[in-house]
Amino acid sequence: MNIILIGPPGVGKGTEAKRLASLFHIPHISTGDMFRAMFDEETELAKIAKAHINRGELVPDDLTNKMVKERLLEKDAQQGFLFDGYPRNIVQAKALDEFLNSRGEHMDAILYIDADVDLLSARIAGRRVCKSCGNVYHIQYKKPKVEGICDACHGELYQRKDDMEDTVRRRLHIYHDVTAPIIDYYKDLQAFHAIDGSGNIEETHEKVMNVIV
Ligand code: AP5
Repeated sequence: MNIILIGPPGVGKGTEAKRLASLFHIPHISTGDMFRAMFDEETELAKIAKAHINRGELVPDDLTNKMVKERLLEKDAQQGFLFDGYPRNIVQAKALDEFLNSRGEHMDAILYIDADVDLLSARIAGRRVCKSCGNVYHIQYKKPKVEGICDACHGELYQRKDDMEDTVRRRLHIYHDVTAPIIDYYKDLQAFHAIDGSGNIEETHEKVMNVIV
């Protein structure tokens, strides 16, 4: 099963992606998570990625596409994959098409999740992430059992630097200008489904399952 999740910052792509990846036994490939995992490295890619992400801008396409191609060649991605946050513009969408065509593969589900901008802002403002394992919580909608501590590994929860108000505004602008056009690129395909992401986590998951199973 090859799945792409598209949607604005904070809509719940990562939250839903974890559930789908586990259900379908496919790797959850989040380009945002991959870049954040490099933040403490001293490589050129890590420095470039961190600078772009902290400004709320997209990491350059050549670096992103190369990283994704390498990831798709790994063993666990040979029987399917789930992309969360990739592709993020037309250049990336075309690069992915080319790669899949070269392997004789196609997308099985292209899930476009959307919600009102006020909801997105509230979800992002309340998001807390585990420093150790990356699990995602929300101070209101998905509370950890103990405030500030990860249920799974007892790691410390933190707020992403790009979740600060000014940077979020920039990310939302970039989403509308650069990422939203890929909806037109995909919308006539049979695999494309638009999902209302304004309900709670369970409701959104149910809507996703209704279109892909
Ligand atoms: P990335 O990490 O991909 O961030 P994003 O796309 O902006 O998405 P978010 O992680 O903000 O939100 P989400 O939709 O996953 O929501 P979540 O499930 O966490 O990218 C970060 C940066 O990396 C980019 O800005 C860019 O710089 C760079 N980058 C990444 N990919 C790139 C690419 N392909 N090319 C170039 N640059 C790239 O949910 C949000 C919160 O809401 C959580 O607290 C959650 O608990 C809660 N929640 C989720 N669903 C619900 C619900 N239904 N009801 C109530 N609460 C909910």
